[in-house]
Amino acid sequence: MIEAYSIRQFNTDDIRHVVQINKECLPENYPDQFFLGLHYHAPKAFLIAESNSRIVGYIMCRIERGISSFGRLPVKKGHIVSVAVLPTDRNKGIGTSIIKAGMNAMEEYGAVEFFLEVRKSNEAAVSVYESLGYEIRRVLRGYYRDGEDAYLMVAKASSVAKEGTDDERSN
Ligand SMILES: CC(C)(COP(=O)(O)OP(=O)(O)OC[C@H]1O[C@@H](n2cnc3c(N)ncnc32)[C@H](O)[C@@H]1OP(=O)(O)O)[C@@H](O)C(=O)NCCC(=O)NCCS
Repeated sequence: MIEAYSIRQFNTDDIRHVVQINKECLPENYPDQFFLGLHYHAPKAFLIAESNSRIVGYIMCRIERGISSFGRLPVKKGHIVSVAVLPTDRNKGIGTSIIKAGMNAMEEYGAVEFFLEVRKSNEAAVSVYESLGYEIRRVLRGYYRDGEDAYLMVAKASSVAKEGTDDERSN
């Protein structure tokens, strides 16, 4: 049976659940203030996944300015800072859905491209990102505290691709 799940915006009452999921799923953990700060700056891009009235996942993102990964000009970029789904609820499409929803929200803030860092060994996450159009741009040597390398992955926002502004047009 396919269990239903839903995605909604984070609110500050959810903080304990998100901190707990983050601790359970990732070695990169943060103080409450870090989560709340990201929420303050981009509330629409901090999302929660619920299944059977339980919080089972989250995504939090930051809007940054920097040189485009696809050109030379400064642009607004959406940074996926952290995303996780509880092990019991994985492989049901929740991760893909919440990342898509986070990307849509970042576009609402004006992001025209996205980026993230992911452990080289994290095959599940890399496969989800690739299915959403991300490509590995480079290896960040020793990025994590334990010395593991990260992939820097980048993607263009869909609206940019839809408008055919760059090299996305086929011939
Ligand atoms: C990455 C993560 C959020 C994905 O969540 P999810 O709900 O399982 O995602 P989905 O169900 O949408 O997709 C999972 C995909 O990964 C694939 N997958 C699972 N394990 C895999 C593995 N070891 N190698 C390759 N692909 C794998 C599944 O086959 C599925 O792809 P499919 O839809 O084509 O079948 C989840 O694995 C997670 O929370 N991991 C721990 C935290 C983390 O790594 N966060 C990302 C840090 S950058």
